[in-house]
Amino acid sequence: MMEKKKLNVLIKSWGCQMNMYDSARMADVLAPLGYQKTEDPKQADLIILNTCHIREKASEKLFSELGRMRELQKLRAKQGGTLMLAVAGCVAQAAGEEIKRRAPHVKMIFGPQTYHRLPEMLARAARDGEVVLDTDFPPEPKFDYLPDEHGDLGVSAFLSVQEGCDRFCSYCVVPYTRGAEYSRSFASIRAEAEDFVSHGVREIMLLGQNVNAYKDEETGVGLASILRDLARIEGLERLRYTTSHPLDMDEDLIAAHGDMPKLMPFLHLPLQSGSDKILEAMNRKHTAADYLETTKRLKAEQPRLALSSDFIVGFPGETDEDFEATMRMVREVTYAQAFSFKYSRRPGTPAAMMKEQVLETVKEERLARLQALLRQQQTDFNEACVGQTLSVLFDNEGRAPNQFFGRSPFMQAVRAEGETSLIGSQRDVKITKGSPNSLEGEIV
Ligand code: 5AD
Ligand code: SF4
Repeated sequence: MMEKKKLNVLIKSWGCQMNMYDSARMADVLAPLGYQKTEDPKQADLIILNTCHIREKASEKLFSELGRMRELQKLRAKQGGTLMLAVAGCVAQAAGEEIKRRAPHVKMIFGPQTYHRLPEMLARAARDGEVVLDTDFPPEPKFDYLPDEHGDLGVSAFLSVQEGCDRFCSYCVVPYTRGAEYSRSFASIRAEAEDFVSHGVREIMLLGQNVNAYKDEETGVGLASILRDLARIEGLERLRYTTSHPLDMDEDLIAAHGDMPKLMPFLHLPLQSGSDKILEAMNRKHTAADYLETTKRLKAEQPRLALSSDFIVGFPGETDEDFEATMRMVREVTYAQAFSFKYSRRPGTPAAMMKEQVLETVKEERLARLQALLRQQQTDFNEACVGQTLSVLFDNEGRAPNQFFGRSPFMQAVRAEGETSLIGSQRDVKITKGSPNSLEGEIV
């Protein structure tokens, strides 16, 4: 009997966790066609670049990567083989035609909503030799067409429950590249979670661009109900969710933080700016005081809650005073961790057209100051953990023998030693050292 030909696929992923989830599902879709994953571009028969469009230089980065890929393709052709190139994700969605024009060696271009059609696209590209461009927002959601079989999921896995965004923050491309808000059905989320757990997953991070806007269409239930239901799955030890909009933190969800032991006491709740004027120009639709109020209510339910955020500095019209308001808010809220970015003009978004764009040098200065403050808070938070006993879910081996890495409830990376493998187990660890980016400890 002839053995099915083995093919190698390399999927390179940029950007958000949603892209990581999508890349993993693309691998699942390709597995039945004989594709196995590789990290080595020289071994690959198919390379998929899963792109992100959220900040600047995404397309320049893509085109220079595609230049390198062209060389690889030529090399492969010389050896008598073929390397098929594909561009996926939000840059494909936003700039599909441009990619087709400028990089004719790319044979498949598809957005975040259509990768369940990969087998069909591959067949078309091979048969017709034409470039396949598929950037629809199909009426049938991709989630209904994903295979039940999964590759290695690890101990901690992402599970997408919601996609797209209707909030239209004035700087953001997501509503244009990922489309309108769509919530997956409760039943299909439950089924995927059970399947994950039966494959050894112990922690699930529910994903959505605006995850707390989740609403099951049939029953109308929101994210808190999903969390409560998933918490009943035996073997599932931890739940998290990201990313939330402050306005969609409803009472149910806030209460869940107080009474659900499996819901980890860590929340990524982007503030973006501490200035009400800038928040309004960003179309965030809440004030700094509203945000403070929400975090206070959350901490009243869960006093251990650690917060994380995203910040944008140098949004059009941001004055020194507006920036100082952001610094003040950071000092008042205090964060265990946070991401901060210089505002970048995204074509097609309202903010790109705003006058009073801030000078690059000013943005850089502000970013440096904000990041120094955030780094200090993160370091303080980690150092304050020394002496405490934290429960750590181990998911990775270290380089040295007997060394293992895991995550604390607050998302900190923790290193510890174990005689036998700790992977997949949640253990109490006495923290002995806290550094800016990680913790060390001993198993209790
Ligand atoms: N410029 C800078 N940062 C941005 N983000 C989104 N759009 C932009 C932009 N145009 C940041 C926001 C968001 C995070 C995912 O990326 O802070 O929360
Ligand atoms: Fe973008 Fe705002 Fe939607 Fe977040 S809430 S994805 S920043 S539009």
